[in-house]
Amino acid sequence: MSRVTLSRYLIEQTRSNNTPADLRFLIEVVARACKEISHAVSKGALGGVLGSMDTENVQGEVQKKLDVLSNEILLEANEWGGHLAGMASEEMDNAYQIPGKYPKGAYLLVFDPLDGSSNIDVNVSVGTIFSVLRCPNECFSQNDALGEEAFLQPGTRQVAAGYAIYGPQTMLMLTLGDGVKGFTLDRELGSFVLTHDSIRVPESTAEFAINMSNERHWEAPVKRYVGELLAGKEGPLGKNYNMRWIASMVADVHRILTRGGIFMYPRDGREPEKPGKLRLMYEANPMSFIIEQAGGAATNGHQRILDIQPESLHQRVAVFLGSKEEVERATRYHQE
Ligand code: AHG
Ligand code: MN
Ligand code: MN
Repeated sequence: MSRVTLSRYLIEQTRSNNTPADLRFLIEVVARACKEISHAVSKGALGGVLGSMDTENVQGEVQKKLDVLSNEILLEANEWGGHLAGMASEEMDNAYQIPGKYPKGAYLLVFDPLDGSSNIDVNVSVGTIFSVLRCPNECFSQNDALGEEAFLQPGTRQVAAGYAIYGPQTMLMLTLGDGVKGFTLDRELGSFVLTHDSIRVPESTAEFAINMSNERHWEAPVKRYVGELLAGKEGPLGKNYNMRWIASMVADVHRILTRGGIFMYPRDGREPEKPGKLRLMYEANPMSFIIEQAGGAATNGHQRILDIQPESLHQRVAVFLGSKEEVERATRYHQE
């Protein structure tokens, strides 16, 4: 049986449904960077990559060595190829400018270079999340600096999104807006191989993911919904639910893509001015695009995440995503 690598899949996409060649190249380069990050992550203490830096990112979070390294790997891999007009990352305050010595291209790349930082030093799955947008014509110039406005497009405008998960296997999950494909890294070949051809999130589920330690800070609809899940068979939902919380969004979302479930990171009363913990541009939007493409749903409790008009690069958002029935129920409770 011949194996379909990511490269072959992308070439076939280019032939059959006009995936532009420069988008194909972009995805190839991101995948190559993810292989490099996977390699660094897997070395752990042997590579001297564990532990923290003395720095904080724009959100005031202490940066881990691997956060910074992964960010550098993605920037270096993507800046020279001529396919990007700019990049933005969780780990950088402002939009990243393509250095003047390199050509610019039509796309914008937005990423969370290493998701699940709190799990790095304890050898639990982490990942890289990315989103690809087109650079609006009026923002594109070979000479001028690229401003933040170029990136502030709703998630519906994403042309591709994906994540790499660095777990027992390294996998790359990808959508080009036509379903979701899963590729597993074959370390001997050095290639991502298509292993999950048609990923579907089951519509109903009996599994949920939320950080329960924040319960006392939740808003009433979330308290009600999770209370009903916990009540199990004897409660209004009439079935027992299981709970998982890995605290790496990539790993929690990956489980949901594989066997269903609902993932929640609601807004809460700890920092009432913030509409949640997760970031819209490089966490919620790409994951929502993937989940929707796999037949699931994603809202902030009030509206579809992909319809939100972003106001700033590092904007936060509440997230409810996964199996349709449960996301719809949680969203309905916010409206009642
Ligand atoms: P990051 O490591 O990129 O900052 O993201 C961590 C996020 C997400 O991956 C996870 O779902 C969530 O933070 C976990 O938050 P808690 O530690 O509050 O459970
Ligand atoms: Mn993250
Ligand atoms: Mn991160």
